[in-house]
Amino acid sequence: MIDHLESERVILREMEEKDWIDVHKYASQERVCEYQPWGPNSEKESGGFVKQVLIDANQEPRSRFVFSITLRESREMIGAGEFNIRDHTNKVGEIAYIVNPKYWGMGFATEVAKLLIAYGFHECNLHRIFATCDPRNIGSSRVLEKVGMTKEGRIREHLLIKDG
Ligand SMILES: CC(C)(COP(=O)(O)OP(=O)(O)OC[C@H]1O[C@@H](n2cnc3c(N)ncnc32)[C@H](O)[C@@H]1OP(=O)(O)O)[C@@H](O)C(=O)NCCC(=O)NCCS
Repeated sequence: MIDHLESERVILREMEEKDWIDVHKYASQERVCEYQPWGPNSEKESGGFVKQVLIDANQEPRSRFVFSITLRESREMIGAGEFNIRDHTNKVGEIAYIVNPKYWGMGFATEVAKLLIAYGFHECNLHRIFATCDPRNIGSSRVLEKVGMTKEGRIREHLLIKDG
């Protein structure tokens, strides 16, 4: 297991307990969780999320890898990139990402998604990597397009998002 991934502007490192404060900065905002089944988070919920991440990181075999996105220069934590092995036998993984709105539209999610995909194929030896997003989530769908993913279809009634 590599403990960090890096590209030109960001370093992804394993999420730590203290990160809940920076997680809360974005997870408490309505627009960040508009297309998510959770949130906006209370402080307790953001803390609980990070605690669960740490529990999952210690499972064997490990399926969940949650990285804090930090700026290379300032080391500020600006979001999270997640990698899940969904099927060990068939070598299938899923990526997800979230960025603090302060930094939206600057290419960070795209940079992070590329790192996660490279990690999955090269370090976890995966055969297939997928992602899902709400069809209305134009930013996320654009990120997936930019990193070279192919749209495979529409999964109906998949998640209970706020408006149903
Ligand atoms: C989705 C999200 C991660 C994108 O992060 P980001 O760092 O802003 O993404 P990038 O800058 O790498 O790319 C975003 C792209 O979407 C485009 N975009 C964003 N909102 C858009 C909109 N409403 N209409 C058209 N294009 C839009 C941007 O212009 C950019 O494309 P471009 O490079 O071709 O100009 C961020 O908005 C976020 O954290 N959202 C909340 C959590 C979330 O939805 N996560 C994904 C779960 S599926």
